[in-house]
Amino acid sequence: MKSFIPWVGGKTLLAKKIIGEFPETFGRYIEVFGGGGSVLFASDKHAKIEVYNDFNSDLVNLFRCLKYHRSELEREIDGYINAREVFFELKERIKCTGFTDIQRAAMFYCPIKISYGSKLDTYGCSNKSLDTDRFSEVSERLKRVNIEHKDFEELIKQYDRPDALFYCDPPYHTTEGFYSVKFTEADHYRLRDTLYGIKGRFVLSYNDDEFVRELYKDCMIIAAERQNNLGSGVFKEVIIKNY
Ligand SMILES: C[S@@+](CC[C@H](N)C(=O)[O-])C[C@H]1O[C@@H](n2cnc3c(N)ncnc32)[C@H](O)[C@@H]1O
Repeated sequence: MKSFIPWVGGKTLLAKKIIGEFPETFGRYIEVFGGGGSVLFASDKHAKIEVYNDFNSDLVNLFRCLKYHRSELEREIDGYINAREVFFELKERIKCTGFTDIQRAAMFYCPIKISYGSKLDTYGCSNKSLDTDRFSEVSERLKRVNIEHKDFEELIKQYDRPDALFYCDPPYHTTEGFYSVKFTEADHYRLRDTLYGIKGRFVLSYNDDEFVRELYKDCMIIAAERQNNLGSGVFKEVIIKNY
């Protein structure tokens, strides 16, 4: 199944190839940099324990509201329309406090749907509707998934076991600024050091550049290509594994 939101750097187009690199069996699946959760939703290899994580609090709040308060969230979203004024007003309003989690989730969801390329900075001028038709099946899927809001290092150490599979899709090297959660050069090294210390297995997505290839030179590196989300060319990517 597809994610219910588009997300910058989302892996919908590469999900099949990534899942094809997963081992036959694993006891727990942890999607460390969850974003729109496109690999989690696309995979039908369901482990006993499944985890979605992201350090973006608005994103995690949206996932949790959809899991636990679907109808209330649908009602809240129903109050908005796809319009330029709505987009800019919500962009400002979400910076304020004093809203309920459900109100905040709707205020985050609508701009994702109607912004240009889901980047949340300019209005998309599209005729996309703010429909919630798929919320029911997504909410059901999330019932099996633990939703976490942790920095990757703490999360990985917490869930690491010999039968764990971590799928990691960090902000890409040199395009870290696309996300509201800050990710630095030092974080790329911290991720590598954390992954090198685990008992379980990992599958990691990255852009194909020399820095990344050098960082993971001891691992299996598989080249992959995907269409740019805005349809303007092809991105060279890599899938990296420790098995
Ligand atoms: C490339 S996106 C993930 C896209 C996702 N795989 C998808 O298909 O939609 C990277 C995500 O990492 C999150 N992130 C950034 N720093 C983080 C950190 N320190 N710990 C956990 N998540 C983080 C960002 O909020 C962003 O959603």
